Amino acid sequence: MVDVDQVLDEAGLKNPHVREFVAYWAQVTGADAIEVVSAEDDERLLQESLEAGELLPVSGGRYYSRSYFKDTARSEERTVVATSKESDKGVYNNWKPAEETVATLTERMRGASKGKTMYVIPYLMAPQGSPLEAYAAGVELTDSRPVVQQMIRMARVGVDYINELKDQSSFVRAVHVTGDLPNLGQGTPDDQRLFATVADQRTILHFGSSYGGNALLGKIAHGLRQACYDGKDSEVFLAEQFLLLGITDKQTGKKFHVVGGFPSASGKTNLSMTLAPDALGDRYYVEFYGDDIAWLWVGDDGRIWAFNPENGVFGVAKDTNEASNPGAVEAIKPGSGAIFTNVAYNPETQDVWWEGKTKNPPEDVTGWLDWKGNPIADRTPEQADEPWAHPNSRFTAPISMVPNAAEDYNNPAGVPVDAIIFGGRTRDREPLIRAITDIAEGVYDGLTLGAEATFAAEGVDGQLRYDPMSMRPFMAYSEGEYAAHWLHIIGRASQPPIFAHVNWFQRDPEDGHFLWPGYRENVRALLWLLQFKAGEVKGQETAVGVIPTQDELNLDGLDLPQEDLDRILSIDVERWRQEIEFREEHLKQFDGLPEEIWAAHRRVAEALERAAQ
Ligand code: GDP
Ligand code: PGA
Ligand code: MN
Ligand code: MN
Repeated sequence: MVDVDQVLDEAGLKNPHVREFVAYWAQVTGADAIEVVSAEDDERLLQESLEAGELLPVSGGRYYSRSYFKDTARSEERTVVATSKESDKGVYNNWKPAEETVATLTERMRGASKGKTMYVIPYLMAPQGSPLEAYAAGVELTDSRPVVQQMIRMARVGVDYINELKDQSSFVRAVHVTGDLPNLGQGTPDDQRLFATVADQRTILHFGSSYGGNALLGKIAHGLRQACYDGKDSEVFLAEQFLLLGITDKQTGKKFHVVGGFPSASGKTNLSMTLAPDALGDRYYVEFYGDDIAWLWVGDDGRIWAFNPENGVFGVAKDTNEASNPGAVEAIKPGSGAIFTNVAYNPETQDVWWEGKTKNPPEDVTGWLDWKGNPIADRTPEQADEPWAHPNSRFTAPISMVPNAAEDYNNPAGVPVDAIIFGGRTRDREPLIRAITDIAEGVYDGLTLGAEATFAAEGVDGQLRYDPMSMRPFMAYSEGEYAAHWLHIIGRASQPPIFAHVNWFQRDPEDGHFLWPGYRENVRALLWLLQFKAGEVKGQETAVGVIPTQDELNLDGLDLPQEDLDRILSIDVERWRQEIEFREEHLKQFDGLPEEIWAAHRRVAEALERAAQ
């Protein structure tokens, strides 16, 4: 038996509530040893992982990790929100009663960390000193060392965060136990994995995975699911799957901040790390604040304020290259300490590769292993087309490595939000951008965000589905109350942000090519939105919002076929009338949806009927 008190004393972990929590779960999981970690331990832990073979070296002091082949994405089906209040049950949150969920997980975790070390990770999901700090502290217990290294990159990690808490009992209790991965029946009716946020106990219990999205509990379970619940419970804030960026117009000296909700693997990281297109000269400067989560509240000045609770980037590797995302390439360069997960790896050259890193895979396949660890050279002709890297392979890097990180990304005051945009992978119907000035219609637009699901979640790739505000996998309580909470928070702002819907993914109906070049060029759509908000351009009114005219959108240096441009800057009224019927069915599922949302729906539907005449 480990002497818990002695370990915690030596680590200087004084918070009595944390000590009690650690002692309890050490006893349940049966871990052989306990270790309290801080960010300063990173180097030593990396060395230990290299020696243990959990991490493999990538040239330039970077690292490679491979997760179990059935454990490569978030499992939405196995993820639940548990509370003691059945009224928290929603359409998407897989609600379960708290008591039985805690009991089930305690049994699964019992003795499951035998022979392993349990790492204690005290963390803060906020810049220190933030007005929302009371909701940001947590302690993750994990039996996986690579999870510690990822957490050190993704969150602010250190004992002081937890010792210095004003209310010593106010922290999220997060427990991660990996389990015996080859014997968990992943994807079968007897699937043993269970990922629970016990929201009204501020407790997170995840069993059966070591993949980032399931195992980095500060990030998704706390930063999104738990915070979603806390935001509503306190009536103080919103926690959303949002990117957060700043755009400075050097000519006018004005700076704007934009948050954007796009479903996983739909372009948040790329947009937030992007740089303005070269063709626009150096007039605009885009700054990175966050790529996956933002917490938003109403400031004393009547504006909506936001910060990114994370400290790092967990980005999709696929198609990351010098042209698509030079910022990301810089953030993961030699010397960055980046960790790559489930990409292809060459142990001889200590190199990594993923689809889209270069146009073609390395010509000389000597030494190259695919993401499962199988030699490329041994592939049969039938296997030749299989990707080398997993489509959801990722890189992890701290924000300090991001070249366009805003100077004030650590500022606890946050930044004022000028625009809230929603978007996703939509192959038809959605134009490049449509601006929405009415708050209820903006919230309605978020609630009816419909897009193709991606490989970031197991088993849903390509499926068209609604994903309210891109929060479908992280929704913590009922959608009706969620909509009301949104109206309540944004409605309190005397200077509310403008809303917009964007789509970088419209395709040609015949040959399927993307109609818009995307990536860095996306900034052009945002610049139009900010001009529209400032009253500098008028756009064209449509039934579903205001879209840019071709003259207003800055297309300098782009050579788009007129036909493609016409399509992304117009509204297909018939297709939209059909969409309205789908939306009606979608919204009807939600109990207690505020009347303002139904009224917004009717206004849009009526406008479309008028447009059809
Ligand atoms: P996130 O998961 O929402 O942060 O999305 P990422 O920014 O990581 O992008 C996910 C995938 O979409 C990557 O493979 C990107 O290369 C791709 N992607 C991102 N932005 C664009 C875009 O504007 N156009 C196209 N065609 N693909 C994009
Ligand atoms: P993503 O982040 O949104 O960048 O994919 C991880 C996730 O949501 O699983
Ligand atoms: Mn995400
Ligand atoms: Mn991302």
